Amino acid sequence: MRLTIRDVRKMKNNGNPLVMLTAYDATSARLAEKAGVPMILVGDTLGMVVQGHDSTIPVKLEHMIYHCSIVARVTQKPLIVGDLPFMTYSISPEQALENAGHLMQDGGVSCVKLEGGEHMAPTVDRIVHSGIPVMGHIGLTPQSVNQFGGFRVQGKQLDSARQLIRDALMIQDAGAFSIVLELVPSRLAKLISELLDIPTIGIGAGVHCDGQVQVFHDILALFEDFIPRHTKRYSHIGDMIQSALTTYRTEVEERAFPTKENGFSMDDVVIETLYKEFGK
Ligand code: KIV
Repeated sequence: MRLTIRDVRKMKNNGNPLVMLTAYDATSARLAEKAGVPMILVGDTLGMVVQGHDSTIPVKLEHMIYHCSIVARVTQKPLIVGDLPFMTYSISPEQALENAGHLMQDGGVSCVKLEGGEHMAPTVDRIVHSGIPVMGHIGLTPQSVNQFGGFRVQGKQLDSARQLIRDALMIQDAGAFSIVLELVPSRLAKLISELLDIPTIGIGAGVHCDGQVQVFHDILALFEDFIPRHTKRYSHIGDMIQSALTTYRTEVEERAFPTKENGFSMDDVVIETLYKEFGK
């Protein structure tokens, strides 16, 4: 039985921290589930860590559907959240509803996530009231990186902090079941978490959020383009893979791999006959 949005709400009420991790394919999703991660986000960060772009902007709905459907198919227990990518929900609430429906029907996700505050409230309302749970996402919203002029902390000044509080309350009132706070000062994230009934899930928003989300490739040091300050590297898998691949190349070049143990035998008579027939 998968975790539900009801369970997520209960976890906030009971003071249990929520754990969310991104995953994009069968291997990462299975590893996350085996580690007991209760919420998997198929994030549009796949544009950077899987597709190799320098932002999430090139990601299309069909890419999200493809990756979400893999993650949903190979997991049993985690709640699967699918990101609505850039320009798939900002034109109108109707456009957003249609695309959220595709992500749910064809991608197999239990809920969708979209970026934006106050101005997205009517869209969240439209999707939620059609039966699709929505996770909000405010603060640094990466799809608007060009508008922000870079990946910067949001809400440091009084006006922008007030706006973030308004954003959070309006997304909650529109019916979102939880909200990601990205790159928000820790004390502001604490205040927002106290003000909201729905859980906040932080990334670069301090320890007082109701939960945390991290990117799979960041916490395993698989993504080397830059190291976000908000992440912690729990292992250096990237270095380990690099060294293993170098050893593989060297062993093949030196004919040290494969060994006899990696091969398959055949009857002497058969091979000798073949040599007589075809051998030079
Ligand atoms: O796309 C993503 O992975 C995200 C997280 C960084 C929250 O939105």
